[in-house]
Amino acid sequence: MKILGRLEFPGDKSISHRAVMLAALTNGDCIIKNISTADDVESTQQCLHACGIISKKSGSTITITGGTLKLPDHPLDCGNSGTTARLLTGLLAGQGISATLKGDQSLSRRPMDRIIRPLKLMGIAIDSDHGHLPIKLKLNSVSGIEYTLPVASAQVKSSILLAGLGAREPTTVIEKTKTRDHTEIMLKNLGADLHIEDDHLTVSRLKSPLKPFCMTVPGDPSTAAFFAAGAALLNDSELILKRVLANPTRNAFYDTLQQMGAGIERLNLYEECGELVSDLKITHQPLKSITISGADIPRIIDELPILAVLATQAEGTTIVNNAEELRVKESDRIKAICTNLNRMGASITELENGFIITGPTPLHGNLVTTFNDHRIAMAFSIAGLISQGSTQIDNIDCIRISCPEFEDLLGTVTQ
Ligand code: S3P
Repeated sequence: MKILGRLEFPGDKSISHRAVMLAALTNGDCIIKNISTADDVESTQQCLHACGIISKKSGSTITITGGTLKLPDHPLDCGNSGTTARLLTGLLAGQGISATLKGDQSLSRRPMDRIIRPLKLMGIAIDSDHGHLPIKLKLNSVSGIEYTLPVASAQVKSSILLAGLGAREPTTVIEKTKTRDHTEIMLKNLGADLHIEDDHLTVSRLKSPLKPFCMTVPGDPSTAAFFAAGAALLNDSELILKRVLANPTRNAFYDTLQQMGAGIERLNLYEECGELVSDLKITHQPLKSITISGADIPRIIDELPILAVLATQAEGTTIVNNAEELRVKESDRIKAICTNLNRMGASITELENGFIITGPTPLHGNLVTTFNDHRIAMAFSIAGLISQGSTQIDNIDCIRISCPEFEDLLGTVTQ
């Protein structure tokens, strides 16, 4: 089997969430083209709909009419989406909206104290179930704070910045390790008062609604990563990925793949709405091991499950550490990676904050336990392509959380 052809992806999930949320703070019609088809982004839209924000979808374009948010008359269901829960809590708190936010079983296990603590420091009254969803937000006036992020998290940073849009005083977030910066890029583009100096990000209260906007969301590099990995792994593969987000805070997977020896070319680099975009050409080459740690981790965090699959076929010992955040994603991804790769015959050692993989080892098809985690399901679908024998994925449907068209897209390029 090989991977040949070209693919174009639905819009980036992180950018789509932010575009939908910030559209709600404008005073007119916003047009978002190539919006993510992820169930997670649908969760954000539904929550905002319950707060009175009207949207109309036509194909991959959505028109959202911004305006005054109203109090929802039922709990907002964030589904499986951490970005919805954390960013929307900040945004609604800043706009003085009392609401209850809830989520599915997986999201209800994930830590929310990381946003509750700074939001409480801003004077926001929040009740929660011991730092977990459901969260109850009560109407309150919001004060500015200066806050150093204790964990490298774009969701926490964004939650505070969005709350800061309604705070009496300026709000400063200090980010020691850089994380994805889509919220900052979009706020600046839309005319919000945001200043960035080194690792200090300061936002001031919105004096008027944001400007209505029209944007095209670049293709999702985290989804594209699974296909890029497939092409890097399978002999004689050559894959062109069109219009993929090339933001440096999201690029570590592609940098790493190149350092591991895969053929990677960036073509047609351009900028759209402040975000870099490019085409990528990926060709199969023999892979070698790599070590990933420290400040690179937030730039590759969502791609570590598929990186682990790549590492099983790389010559030498791959080490991933400082990645303890993987334990609090949609599943405990360190456990999910180790459980499934062990079953398939890889040589992997679990670390508290990562894993060590020695390769290359042939993989054997087996039953994959996804823990209902979309990125585990997609990573092990690719592992299945390079395994001897058949691989069964226990819940392929969970892929809808980020890429409902994953299987169709894979079908068009596998031969
Ligand atoms: C995201 C930030 C990251 C990432 C998640 C999306 C975002 O989470 O893992 O998939 O859109 O801000 P953390 O902020 O928890 O690191």
